[in-house]
Amino acid sequence: MKAQLVEKFRAAYGRVPEICAYAPGRIEFIGNHTDYNGGTVLGAALDRGVWVALAGRADARRQWISDQRPGRVMSDAKEGSKRSGLESWVNYPLGVLAALPEFGVASPAGFDFLAMSNLPSGAGLSSSAAIELSSALAFLEMAGSRPSRETVVKIGRHAENHFVGVPCGILDQGVSGFGQKNKLVWIDCRGPVFATVPLPAAVHFWIFNTHTKHALVDGLYAARHRECITAARALGVGLLVETSSTALAAAQANLAPESARRARHVVEEIARVALARTALEAGDLAAVGQLLTASHRSSQLLFENSTEELDFLVDALVASQEVFGARLTGGGFGGAVMALTSAAFGEAEAHVVAAAYRKKFGATPEILHAQTGDGAALI
Ligand code: GLA
Repeated sequence: MKAQLVEKFRAAYGRVPEICAYAPGRIEFIGNHTDYNGGTVLGAALDRGVWVALAGRADARRQWISDQRPGRVMSDAKEGSKRSGLESWVNYPLGVLAALPEFGVASPAGFDFLAMSNLPSGAGLSSSAAIELSSALAFLEMAGSRPSRETVVKIGRHAENHFVGVPCGILDQGVSGFGQKNKLVWIDCRGPVFATVPLPAAVHFWIFNTHTKHALVDGLYAARHRECITAARALGVGLLVETSSTALAAAQANLAPESARRARHVVEEIARVALARTALEAGDLAAVGQLLTASHRSSQLLFENSTEELDFLVDALVASQEVFGARLTGGGFGGAVMALTSAAFGEAEAHVVAAAYRKKFGATPEILHAQTGDGAALI
């Protein structure tokens, strides 16, 4: 891929890049909307992501090219305001540049930038975290700074929270930063503390991307974030991770029904993450699968961030003997479902599910037999 990246850069700018970096997309394995509630989460880095190539300029001009978008965006080191429409992809690296001074690093001035991706965007596989982390690594290198992996992750999240404007937790950037092939990344989001958990060799990931996206998806994500904070306040805690099922049951009468549902989802989901980790370590794939599907049901009924399309896919998948479990992956309100399967689940089985989906919704989901991969790095 590096050769392709360098070639694209050369074709666009007539010279070779000075710095190249890569960061993967991720699968949210389990732990839905637990991260910004201070909980735990398990995710896997994919073997797909975003590559960034960069070369400095003598002047303060900045040129931006993405192989996913037409044309070239021009800006200037003195002018870093948010972009909209077709140019809005630039907000991720611009957000990183805006974050750097907060981490004690001066942003580089002029440069030529090129991003190349093989991640489906809008699938809930964190193409945004992948471009944030690959850009962060490249800009940091240009600024002569090589901070810890954890700092790079925090710079990516800072860009998303403060510039892009999504109040996300640390899951996406944490998994993109700490991912390892054949491992899951476990994050205790309060620390944050990062660890890896080996993935049993017998399992496979299949992703079904519906290409549906709720028109208000960013607003709905922010609304869920607010609802969780409101529920925590009503329960007398700072973050939902600090409450328990018992405390929740005792306070039920004083909580608005919606707050109670959101809080119950988060508290039970955090418990499922712990159970999933134990079951993975014991190699109990049936138990892992049940927890994945239970997570989806909780998103569907309590957190209400699923959709008819996602529910249909989960129902169709779990009807198959070869599927251990299935759930929506990522923020929800559209996007993709991931299934954890045995090796016996193959293209033929995936196409049966896709055909049933097409019959019902008149559209074909994109199918990805996903492989895990390593985390962000300079290349
Ligand atoms: C998105 C956010 C993450 C996380 C998930 C839901 O992917 O970016 O921080 O909250 O949704 O678990």
